[in-house]
Amino acid sequence: MRLLLIGFGTVGQGFAEILRDKAPMLKEQYSLNARIVGVATGSRGVLYHPEGLDLDVLLDAIERGTLNDYPESEGLEKGFDTETLIRESVADVLIEASPTSLTDAQPALSYFKVGLASGKHIITANKGPLALAYPELKRLAESKGLHLRFEASVMAGTPAIATGLELLAGNTIEEAYGIFNGTTNYILTQMEGGLSYDDALARAQKLGYAETDPSGDVEGWDAAAKVLILGTTLYGKQWSMDDLDVTGITGISQTDIEMAKQSGERYKLIARVTSEGGSVAPQRIRVTHPLAQVGGATNAITYKTDLMGDITLIGAGAGRKETGFALLSDLLAIKRLTT
Ligand code: HSE
Repeated sequence: MRLLLIGFGTVGQGFAEILRDKAPMLKEQYSLNARIVGVATGSRGVLYHPEGLDLDVLLDAIERGTLNDYPESEGLEKGFDTETLIRESVADVLIEASPTSLTDAQPALSYFKVGLASGKHIITANKGPLALAYPELKRLAESKGLHLRFEASVMAGTPAIATGLELLAGNTIEEAYGIFNGTTNYILTQMEGGLSYDDALARAQKLGYAETDPSGDVEGWDAAAKVLILGTTLYGKQWSMDDLDVTGITGISQTDIEMAKQSGERYKLIARVTSEGGSVAPQRIRVTHPLAQVGGATNAITYKTDLMGDITLIGAGAGRKETGFALLSDLLAIKRLTT
C-alpha cells in the first residue's frame, strides 16, 4: 500500500517509526507491505517519491529539523504544495495527522476532499473535520467506494471507535462517558502529586500528549470534539460546540485538589454523550470510583448498552506510539476490507 502522510509531528513520526520497526512482522503476519511515498508538513518541507521514501533517512531528516535535507535522488520531488501532492501522487491511502482546527477544520478538511476526489482512502487522527463535517465526508467516501477511518481521533490507539461503531453494532448505546483527554488527566494526576499546573502542562507537552495549541486541551475543547465525534458517528447527531456544556480544568487550583483529596475525592474531567446531547466538566469523584483509578495520560470510556450492559475500555488516550498505532490499526483494517 502506498501512503501519503500529511502532518509529520509527534503522531506522524510515531506511525513512521512503527512502520519501520515492524515492517517484517507486518509483512509476514498481515501481508502488509506499506511504503510512504509522500510526506507533507506545514513548515518543514514536502517530499514525494513514487517508489517510496526511506524511513530511516526521513525520520533522521525531521529530527534534524527539515525534510529539505533528505538526499536528492532520481524521481524525488521536493516542490509540491500539499494539495497538489494529494491530487497528483500515486497513493492508495492518505494518512492525515496535521494540527487540528476545531473552528473550521482547515486545512485538513480540504485535504480530505481532494484525497477522496482523487480516489484515496482516508485515515485520520484529526478531530476537526470529523467533529464538523463527518456526514459530508462519509457520504463522499461512500460515493467513491473509499474508506474513511479515524480510530486515532478518540483515545489514541485504544479501540474506542472500533468498539463503539463496529464491535458493539446491534446494541443500542444509551450513553458513552469517561475520561477523553490525556493531557488534562495527566495534569490533574501530577497536580495531585504536588506539581504546579504550569510544570505539569509543560511535561504533557514534552511527552507529546498536548495538542499543538494546548489551550484546547485544558479548556475542555479537545474532549468536547471527541463528544461531537461520538455524537455524529454513534447517534447521527451533527451538533456544534455551542450545543454542548463545556468546562475545562483551568479553574481548578492546587487548593481545590488538596481539599478534594482530604475528603477522599479526586478531580476528573468527565465527558458524556447520549443521543440527546453531551457535556464535558470536571467532577469530584470518590477515590474508590473506577474512573478515579485512571491516572496520567490514560483515558477511559464506558459504553452503556442494552444487550451487553456496561463495557469499559481503559487505555492510552494520547502519545506518540499509542496514536501512531491507531493509524496502523486503521491501515490494517483497510487492508482487510479491500483484499
Ligand atoms: N491532546 C489530546 C489529549 C491528544 O491530550 O488527549 C489525543 O487526542
